[in-house]
Amino acid sequence: MSSEPALSPWRLSVAPMMDWTDRHCRYFHRLLTRKTLLYTEMVTTGALMHGSVQRHLRFNEEEHPVALQLGGSEPADLAAAARLGEQWGYDEINLNCGCPSDRVQRGAFGACLMAEPGLVADGVKAMVDAVTVPVTVKHRIGIDRTESYEFVRDFVGTVSEAGCSVFMVHARNAWLQGLSPKENREVPPLRYELAYQLKRDFPHLTIGVNGGITTNEQIDTHLAQVDGVMVGREAYHHPWLMTSWDERFFGASPSLITREGVEEQMVAYMERAHAEDGCPWYAIARHMLGLRHGLRGARLWRQVWSDHRLKPLPPREVWAMAQAHMEPEVSEDVDDALRAVALL
Ligand SMILES: Cc1cc2nc3c(=O)[nH]c(=O)nc-3n(C[C@H](O)[C@H](O)[C@H](O)COP(=O)(O)O)c2cc1C
Repeated sequence: MSSEPALSPWRLSVAPMMDWTDRHCRYFHRLLTRKTLLYTEMVTTGALMHGSVQRHLRFNEEEHPVALQLGGSEPADLAAAARLGEQWGYDEINLNCGCPSDRVQRGAFGACLMAEPGLVADGVKAMVDAVTVPVTVKHRIGIDRTESYEFVRDFVGTVSEAGCSVFMVHARNAWLQGLSPKENREVPPLRYELAYQLKRDFPHLTIGVNGGITTNEQIDTHLAQVDGVMVGREAYHHPWLMTSWDERFFGASPSLITREGVEEQMVAYMERAHAEDGCPWYAIARHMLGLRHGLRGARLWRQVWSDHRLKPLPPREVWAMAQAHMEPEVSEDVDDALRAVALL
């Protein structure tokens, strides 16, 4: 009897996004897709060494599989932070070598680390020795105007020898001078071909591609070349897309969830979070504002869920007000069938 080869855990993931992919956001995303790997926001080693570990690492059991992304460069600190991540139950530790922001450059981590593959290798080795969960790296294809493929090839080669076998490649350079982090996600051109070439040169490594991916068709195209696809902004802004992923990319049974059902579960989660530690509903609701994107009434629905004047109300009341703007959700098939009957 032949069995299908297991699908890579990195086949599809939601990118780490500062201030966006916090535990509340990941809880929401997990309602939409059971299989997709979710990444935390970047947590710096400094924040873990000097700040509240609980505040930075706490997450909901439901979020698995979930990967902790670390920012840092000092091997001993990275090892200690990775160990904490494993103790808190994360399924993977990821090192950020792709973030271009000034703050990150001054701390000597993020994308500028690509210029120091030896230091990254030392950090990776320290983490691999410290934990049993996979240690992975997210990086760019180059820094500043370095256009050569050899630069990223040598980076991946050096870091993989230290024990990392999974690379998430944001397929554009990071320009460390003169561009804001936001511009650095838009201006340097995307060159997916370099990620594909990495897969051809290192067939034993897991290579994922990231950057500017917005449709399932594009995901298909990339999966024909590499092992995984990481989606960032599109998943955040248009989260309903993720409800097609378990079936389409993991062979799971079709998703039966509705937006109403998801919203209801989120309201229950808001109540739970408030009872647990006083978390206000709007710290959670802000992540689900894209849930009804493209539907009639969505704009007013979104306005209710982001209305500052409603902050003192319990989330169930805000929900009722938001619902008042939406028509009952019917699938397009049902809609078509009703229309056909009406035409008879
Ligand atoms: C608001 C925001 C915050 C981000 N924060 C991080 C981060 O903490 N760590 C990281 O590696 N990348 C971060 N990124 C970059 C994303 O992970 C991703 O590489 C980038 O957005 C390109 O993918 P996309 O075009 O699918 O969004 C961030 C992106 C956004 C939009």
